[in-house]
Amino acid sequence: MPGPRGYPHGVGRGFAARAAQMEPFLAMEVMERALVLEREGARVLHLEVGEPDFPPPPAAVEACGEALRAGETRYTDSRGLQELREAIAQDCASRHGVSVEPSRVLVTSGSSAAMLLVFSLLVDPGDEVILGTPHYPCYPNFVRACGGTPVFVRCDPERGYPIDVEAVRARCNPRTRALVVASPANPTGAVQSEATLRELAGLGLPIISDEVYDGLVYDGASAVSGLRVAEQVYVLDGFSKRYAMTGFRLGWLVAPPEAMRALRTLQQNLFISANRFVQHAGIAALRDGAETVAAMRGAYEKRRDLLVDGLRALGLGVPVPPRGAIYVFADARAFDGDSRRLAFELLERAQVGVAPGVDFGEAGEGWLRFCCAASEATIEEALERLARVLPELR
Ligand SMILES: Cc1ncc(COP(=O)(O)O)c(C=O)c1O
Repeated sequence: MPGPRGYPHGVGRGFAARAAQMEPFLAMEVMERALVLEREGARVLHLEVGEPDFPPPPAAVEACGEALRAGETRYTDSRGLQELREAIAQDCASRHGVSVEPSRVLVTSGSSAAMLLVFSLLVDPGDEVILGTPHYPCYPNFVRACGGTPVFVRCDPERGYPIDVEAVRARCNPRTRALVVASPANPTGAVQSEATLRELAGLGLPIISDEVYDGLVYDGASAVSGLRVAEQVYVLDGFSKRYAMTGFRLGWLVAPPEAMRALRTLQQNLFISANRFVQHAGIAALRDGAETVAAMRGAYEKRRDLLVDGLRALGLGVPVPPRGAIYVFADARAFDGDSRRLAFELLERAQVGVAPGVDFGEAGEGWLRFCCAASEATIEEALERLARVLPELR
């Protein structure tokens, strides 16, 4: 049967440009190679992917199982269970001190799904979206998948990666559609100041505020929510990082009231709804998960210190220790300017998995990202292994 372009379905034609122009997620490629080495008998120390190593809140696991047994297995309202939307609105009030109507909350299959909804809502072909860089690898890929162009503003490592408001202003033009802000950020751990966020909001662009690492902050830092500073704000958030629930695939979006109808339509078509039984886990995590968050925050802070001190001692550069998220981003140019080659070399020779900095944009080339989601013993052993191998690579 020929398809609409005259070809038999799936035969004789390449894939769409949007798939071809998407770049591989290198941290995942390192992990996939590590899995092969492990199957061959190697004992790899994993610091490459950004997944908490803590168990989820026990109440969330319990609630999920209970919901399954009780037959909570069907679709929900595309916007999510009302009880969960109310709990999320309450969580916004307690964490950020802002009052949000549950009608502005949409429950999604992870914040990644929320990203797809927001970029689909805002970006037309030819539009531009400004991002601070180094950046989470998927943002530009979402922008490009929607036909837009990501425009990068470099953030200075020596100053803790503040977003340079004047540089953002200079990149604004009639095609600029939105600005992405992540605080705390992956991979840099940067926490933006309230003053910076207010100035960015003053530019008048819609802000897409990725807050998935909110709560995972150190040295007494606290991240200010986009909800506090802007009206045209789309907050991406979820359970993956703060509650160690990556595999549950549960997140949410808070958006301006006038965007909710269109977002609901997108959600109905693209996803129908988030998993019903998993939404029950979300309600339980918000109610009973505070201990998990506090335990992770304490452990990550210690591990961050261990990594920062250890990496500096090995000759890698960490200009300013990260104040949030779960990573240490370190300058490895003294050893190799090609971060992809270096990461794979370290995997093969030291059996330590790390993410190549170029994954996070050109500004990250020559750097490596180390994830704190491993025990102190694992981090210590990884540092010892690196100490043996790195001198040979200089
Ligand atoms: C900055 C940032 N945003 C969003 C995500 C996606 O998280 P999820 O889809 O699991 O909520 C990640 C995952 O690593 C991330 O680092």
